[in-house]
Amino acid sequence: MYSLLSFVLFLSFLLLFLNTAFSDPRATQAALVCTNRTAATPDRQTFIANFLAAMDSVTPQIASQRYARTVEGTGNNTVYAFGECMKDLSQNDCNLCFAQCKTQVLRCLPFQKGTRGGKIFYDGCYLRYDDYEFFGEALSPADRTVCGTTGFGGKRTAFRVNALELVKNLSAEAPRNDGFFVGSVDRGNSTVYGLAQCWEYLNASSCRSCLQSAVSEIDSCLPNVEGRALNAGCYLRYSTDKFYNNSGTDAVGGDGGVRHLATILAVVSSVLAVVMVVATVIFFGKRKLARSRRERKQLGALVTVVNKSELNFKYEILERATNYFSNSNKLGEGGSGSVYKGILPDGKAVAVKRLFFNTRQWVDQFFNEVNLISTVHHKNLVKLLGCSITGPESLLVYEYVPNHSLAQYLFDKRNAHQLTWDMRYSIIVGTAEGLAYLHEESRLRIIHRDIKLSNILLDENFMAKIADFGLARLFPEDKTHISTAIAGTLGYMAPEYIVRGKLTEKADVYSFGVLVIEVVCGKRISSFTQDSYNILQMVWNLYGSARLYEAVDPSLASRFQKEQASRLLQIGLLCTQASAELRPSMSMVVKMLTDNHDIPKPTQPPFLNSNNVGPSSISPGAYNSRPDSYSQSSGNDMTESWIEPR
Ligand SMILES: *[C@@H]1O[C@H](CO)[C@@H](O)[C@H](O)[C@H]1NC(C)=O
Ligand SMILES: *[C@@H]1O[C@H](CO)[C@@H](O)[C@H](O)[C@H]1NC(C)=O
Ligand SMILES: *[C@@H]1O[C@H](CO)[C@@H](O)[C@H](O)[C@H]1NC(C)=O
Ligand SMILES: *[C@@H]1O[C@H](CO)[C@@H](O)[C@H](O)[C@H]1NC(C)=O
Ligand SMILES: *[C@@H]1O[C@H](CO)[C@@H](O)[C@H](O)[C@H]1NC(C)=O
Ligand SMILES: *[C@@H]1O[C@H](CO)[C@@H](O)[C@H](O)[C@H]1NC(C)=O
Repeated sequence: MYSLLSFVLFLSFLLLFLNTAFSDPRATQAALVCTNRTAATPDRQTFIANFLAAMDSVTPQIASQRYARTVEGTGNNTVYAFGECMKDLSQNDCNLCFAQCKTQVLRCLPFQKGTRGGKIFYDGCYLRYDDYEFFGEALSPADRTVCGTTGFGGKRTAFRVNALELVKNLSAEAPRNDGFFVGSVDRGNSTVYGLAQCWEYLNASSCRSCLQSAVSEIDSCLPNVEGRALNAGCYLRYSTDKFYNNSGTDAVGGDGGVRHLATILAVVSSVLAVVMVVATVIFFGKRKLARSRRERKQLGALVTVVNKSELNFKYEILERATNYFSNSNKLGEGGSGSVYKGILPDGKAVAVKRLFFNTRQWVDQFFNEVNLISTVHHKNLVKLLGCSITGPESLLVYEYVPNHSLAQYLFDKRNAHQLTWDMRYSIIVGTAEGLAYLHEESRLRIIHRDIKLSNILLDENFMAKIADFGLARLFPEDKTHISTAIAGTLGYMAPEYIVRGKLTEKADVYSFGVLVIEVVCGKRISSFTQDSYNILQMVWNLYGSARLYEAVDPSLASRFQKEQASRLLQIGLLCTQASAELRPSMSMVVKMLTDNHDIPKPTQPPFLNSNNVGPSSISPGAYNSRPDSYSQSSGNDMTESWIEPR
């Protein structure tokens, strides 16, 4: 009897695994192609501003229709952008893949003369920007073929024939099927899987010619176990691994074995489940202890640990607490998930973050991390209370902070007047103290990675509380892969992080500097109308002419202290210096804010054209110093100096 019970449990567990383990955003890079032209000469600064605006408008489009197309700016500075997810990805995986993709395309920003565009191919999504209208383009000279390195060990010729036939079939079917087709061929030894997709903007005839060309390109990869043709208008891939999700899509060839198995398992296990219920009723009370011991053994020691832990919240309870994740409970949405307000059965209010990605594959590491992070306490940090990882979705539970975020207070017209100068000052000090704690005092050394207005929450006394540090990358190495999913918000990202992915505490210092300037000026860095993008520029210019206080939020009228405001802005500039080494540490910043400590002279922030008037008293040496040695070496030809000294 009990072996049957265990078997049923085992089956249910297996089923659960089958249903969820396939979730994969395929956020692996297949190719990054930066285009290099010298045709028009855009004004670099405006071009970058337009690029950032384009990236901002692409994201919500992806989230609603899975592809995006946008045009920003005018004349030689126009930026065109297009992005799309593979059609077999779920919406969550699509968002996740795209968030990742977006951070990497920054590597093709025009930091170097000649770079005017970039294409990035992920196995789950695609993103391109350029300085000309490429919508409708099927092929371009920069098209790539990327072949797997390992050769095929089995029947070479048969494999080759089958794979070629498969990609031909897919390429013929896709134009007739909304530009997308997946399938496999399984003849004896050599199963091959394939996927063909044309980008949304291609009509059927262009799609056909794009894929036809892709077939002849991918032919050069055979008989390697994997091949991809990456064209301007389409993507074609074959592999001996089943890499796509074909539930709910048509397929060439005889696939569906996994689905079949899942169905059989579902039927078998539901029949057995009935038996189990009957059996349980019969034996209920008699051998309760023995059963639970058996269950635990079967489900693994980990689940027991998790279930016993105070950090574990039952999924069902959180579901009810948030009114089944109803929209009226939604507090906001971030790079890694949506946040809902919930009331626990004991009446306690919490904030529940519903993660976009599933942690099922790394439950143990994830739980360990939650365990560690929940030990971090500071008055300026939002406390992590626990998580739910054994339910259908992964959830994080945070302390609920009653007031809105700083973004809502600063930019919602009804709230703006409430933030007095003194409040702003103490919010900045609190944020600095919280960050200094994360970086230098906490046992863990946490880099936040996503400091921005909407991540600074305010409690009932308007004290700053930094949210979301729970997802930050743990120092020194990222074991969880969670953070790779969080796309930092563009305007806040330090240049060395954008260009090289180099992440140190100094990247947080940069974001903090941007935040200080935003809070003092009452302007957003990320609203890219031509002039407000440049609040950094504006502050820098005013610094040069010793009129820093003119940058202060006009809604404060004269209700602020000039001296204090100038000091704050100077600290902001100090933190946003192009060279990470020159930026102060957060504990230094706290000293500058609280003592009457001397503030060093800042050098120029990044991304500014030096033909804009800046203070002439600043030594140019700082621009010429090479950026610090980068930890991540990457294969593509990236600029060594992302600021052009002149
Ligand atoms: C697979 O595709 C189906 C249908 O599009 C979708 O409902 C499901 O969530 C996808 N599964 C994964 C794991 O991506
Ligand atoms: C881009 O163009 C510049 C100037 O024409 C050249 O020096 C550079 O090597 C090119 N880079 C690539 C990757 O082709
Ligand atoms: C655009 O670039 C071309 C070539 O560099 C130049 O001749 C033209 O004047 C520029 N147009 C504008 C509006 O700046
Ligand atoms: C498809 O698009 C191409 C390129 O935009 C165009 O030349 C062609 O006429 C279009 N074909 C049809 C049937 O609309
Ligand atoms: C390709 O299509 C033909 C005709 O529909 C079919 O007979 C053949 O089995 C297909 N081959 C593969 C590899 O799917
Ligand atoms: C699989 O490959 C081996 C060696 O290449 C061959 O001997 C065998 O017959 C193949 N099996 C099938 C079912 O094709």
